[in-house]
Amino acid sequence: MGKRLFLAAILMGCIMGMEAKSLKKAYRKYFDIGVAVNLRNVTDEMQGALVCQEFNSVTAENAMKPASTHPREGVYTWEGADRIANFCRQNNIKMRGHCLVWHNQFCNWMFTDNEGNPVSKEVFYERMREHIHAVVNRYKDVVYCWDVVNEAIADGGPNPYRNSRLYKLCGDEFIAKAFQFAREADPKALLFYNDYNAIIPHKRDNIYNMVKKMKEAGVPIDGIGMQGHYNVHWDNLKEVDEAIRKYSELVDVIHITELDIRANKDMGGNLDFKKKAEQAITDEIKQKQEERYVGLFRVLRKHKKVVKSVTFWNLSDRDSWLGTHNYPLLFDKEYQPKEAYYKVKDF
Ligand code: XIL
Repeated sequence: MGKRLFLAAILMGCIMGMEAKSLKKAYRKYFDIGVAVNLRNVTDEMQGALVCQEFNSVTAENAMKPASTHPREGVYTWEGADRIANFCRQNNIKMRGHCLVWHNQFCNWMFTDNEGNPVSKEVFYERMREHIHAVVNRYKDVVYCWDVVNEAIADGGPNPYRNSRLYKLCGDEFIAKAFQFAREADPKALLFYNDYNAIIPHKRDNIYNMVKKMKEAGVPIDGIGMQGHYNVHWDNLKEVDEAIRKYSELVDVIHITELDIRANKDMGGNLDFKKKAEQAITDEIKQKQEERYVGLFRVLRKHKKVVKSVTFWNLSDRDSWLGTHNYPLLFDKEYQPKEAYYKVKDF
């Protein structure tokens, strides 16, 4: 379909309350199809229409993170998160909350007092509790699930846990506390542990063991979020299948929370943040990416009993956190559907 026609169809669909066949419609018997959005995506008319057309779940890419909402003690900055939440409220789109506790983009002020001295873990927990209650309460009408703890497991090494500031102060107890505070704040929300490279056997088993231990101790973990930052060079379907099978021994709900399939060879947390000069994507890479997307969605559909949501990390290749040379999504830099879009949709 030509660019103009596609955009016109979206606008007509939104205006008339009808939808052309879209990703969310194609997958309605399987799982929700979500997207991580920035403020532009919900402000620009066309991008907003595309979000409404294709997706039935939204995650704020950065706006609900601790550093964005709570930069200093007693100071909350809700504007960005409110704008995204209001867009979702107006358009009746449910939100995945992301995220409450993470070693990045966190409230680092929580670790020290006014003089810059380290605080005790009791003081830290009180601050963390207040933060979790404030954020969860503000958005509980629109956010139905939260990534409560993000990326607490290490990529390798003898200690399964990431040696973060959180871990150094609290050991793995901060994980339990975060889930307890989130459950207190909203007993109805589904609570997730979320991580990248969650299909790599060593890390997968460490995630599994941690969640198992926590659940046995009564920590309210409802689901596991597998981020899903993959690349086109990695034929990983067996690993995806096996990880879902394993995690589903522990939890009833698995979400793919941050899906993209990049063109370069990095994966997961091994990131190349540099927005390199533009490079064209070759036909070979395009084709591989289509194959990866098609194969992945086949596996995810097979697990529809437990996989309840699949969220793309960003709307288009223009928005991708991986820069403009990775082309990792289903919509191109002009917000046009790529061949991979049709292959994922028309299965
Ligand atoms: C990323 C955002 O997309 C970027 O804009 C930001 O600069 C860094 O964080 N895992 C996560 C997400 O859980 O929150 C990260 O989002 C991507 C990796």
